[in-house]
Amino acid sequence: MSSAYGDITLISGNAHVELSKAISECLDQPLASARVARFTDGEVDIKLDEDIRGRDVFVLQPTCPPVNENWVELLLLLDTLRRASAGRITAVMPYYGYARKDRKDEGRVPISAKVVANTLVACGADRVVTLDMHAAQIQGFYDIPVDHLYARPVLLDEVEAMGLDNPVVVTPDVGGTKMARAYAKRLNADLAIVDKRRISGSETMIEHVIGEVEGRNCVIVDDMISTGGSITQAAAILKTKGAKAIVIAVSHAVFCGPAVDRLDAAPVDAILVTDSIPQGEKRPRKLKVCSIAPLVAQTIRSIHTSESVSSLFE
Ligand code: R5P
Repeated sequence: MSSAYGDITLISGNAHVELSKAISECLDQPLASARVARFTDGEVDIKLDEDIRGRDVFVLQPTCPPVNENWVELLLLLDTLRRASAGRITAVMPYYGYARKDRKDEGRVPISAKVVANTLVACGADRVVTLDMHAAQIQGFYDIPVDHLYARPVLLDEVEAMGLDNPVVVTPDVGGTKMARAYAKRLNADLAIVDKRRISGSETMIEHVIGEVEGRNCVIVDDMISTGGSITQAAAILKTKGAKAIVIAVSHAVFCGPAVDRLDAAPVDAILVTDSIPQGEKRPRKLKVCSIAPLVAQTIRSIHTSESVSSLFE
């Protein structure tokens, strides 16, 4: 692979070592040898064992839970690489923590997604790669290139393999319409919208479904499942409106609090998620994890050789 920078170096934090190894296998490129550990008092302890001077370095670290731990580890990895004279440093964060705090929607609150951007750049990131950020406009918090990937092709391969007859793509809230339309386009399917009204930060109340779902196979798409409230309520209302099979296709499986129990109790036939976040032992029974490793690996290749990344989604 020819590039304006030195050869590729991949380095992994502790956030998702399994995904880092999968990306490394796809690229046939070993992970750099480094100690990324903790001092006895919990502070991050890093030591790079290799010379990375001039190299095109990709740091693999989604800022998933424990978000603050993974974020600080990423910042200190960036600082390590910059001080070791890397040629270019790309932060690869398939899950972008704090993306939901992207505006000041009431007085006296932070814009946390902007603070993430400020700190990544301050610590040495030259580029960022992320996937299905909660709000695409977070890219504007950066004055460096941000490659925003979509899990859509990965999840759609799986949905298509299910051979659902006459499917309708459903967004569990109006804000997800653009994403749902992109799924519907490739499936050549209709679109429906669950009109979600939020009661508080953690509670939602659903009122209407816009679109035809009776007797139809529904594919509910969203950027993330956090507590599982939105998507399981959407599934329940679709069932009361006469939906046939219900498949969930979601980019990020945060699965916190009651999420797994809610998903197990929900009237759904399959739950498709990506491996942007590592999963614990307790998982929903109908879960299928689809790997984004080949997509991220191809993105790294394209960045390294200065080829288009957006063409991966055409
Ligand atoms: C909301 O706008 C997002 O797209 C997700 O629907 C939401 O964050 C999911 O949260 P929860 O699973 O807690 O309902």
